[in-house]
Amino acid sequence: MAGKRPFQNFQVDHMTLLLQKEFYPVAYYLFRSIFGVTKDTILYEKRRPADDAQGETSMTFAVQVGSGTVGAEAFNNTIMAIVQPSEPAGQRSHVREMLDQHHAASHWQHIALRTPDLMAFHRHAVERGVNFITPILIDESQDLIQTFSGEWFFPGSAPSAMFFEFVQRNPSPDHLKMLEEHNREAWFRDKTFLGLYNEKEQEYQSGKVTPFIDEALFKRLRALAGDKQVFEITEEEAAEADRLMLEYGESKKKQKTAA
Ligand SMILES: [Fe+2]
Repeated sequence: MAGKRPFQNFQVDHMTLLLQKEFYPVAYYLFRSIFGVTKDTILYEKRRPADDAQGETSMTFAVQVGSGTVGAEAFNNTIMAIVQPSEPAGQRSHVREMLDQHHAASHWQHIALRTPDLMAFHRHAVERGVNFITPILIDESQDLIQTFSGEWFFPGSAPSAMFFEFVQRNPSPDHLKMLEEHNREAWFRDKTFLGLYNEKEQEYQSGKVTPFIDEALFKRLRALAGDKQVFEITEEEAAEADRLMLEYGESKKKQKTAA
């Protein structure tokens, strides 16, 4: 099996935490007092008009709980984005559903991993049958490109509300040009947040939540593992799984071009 590729050297970029409404302002205090978040280290805060159309409701805020050193480590900040269900009580909210399905006040929704080459990683993952719910999005104001995977859940069962974001910061002009040819939309900060938010809302309302890998591929990999413990899986079997994923990805590509 091939070793680690350069684009698989992931760093944690940020994590996104969902909180029920009652917890959200409490969390704000906790981040301020316990985690030492100052006004300056609240990186982002987004609002929508309140239920009664008077005033505003906070949708999300992002906190920087740690900062990296200078130079190459400049991105090495520890950042969390916090999201509450900001929709009125009678209106559907994927954030509320995600929390309610877990009977939880809080749920880690996604972790964003930073790769030095998002295009290469994306190609690698798609070749192996991984589903993404967005194309690669561009946030020009942040020199950021990003994409979001499908969720990790059992085929046929309720979604899990757990997925991955993959990002690259400071993409090269070449990368940006290549992307522009495929994806004309330029995404700014609000669009970045709302892009994912609306995509997820649509998925949950339609009941069609995209899985990380298709049911058919999941079943093949599950069958390959059989009754084995993970420590019993040999290198040959890991390579066989990789081959199965490539084969599946290839058949999907053919279906797409045929359609
Ligand atoms: Fe994110």
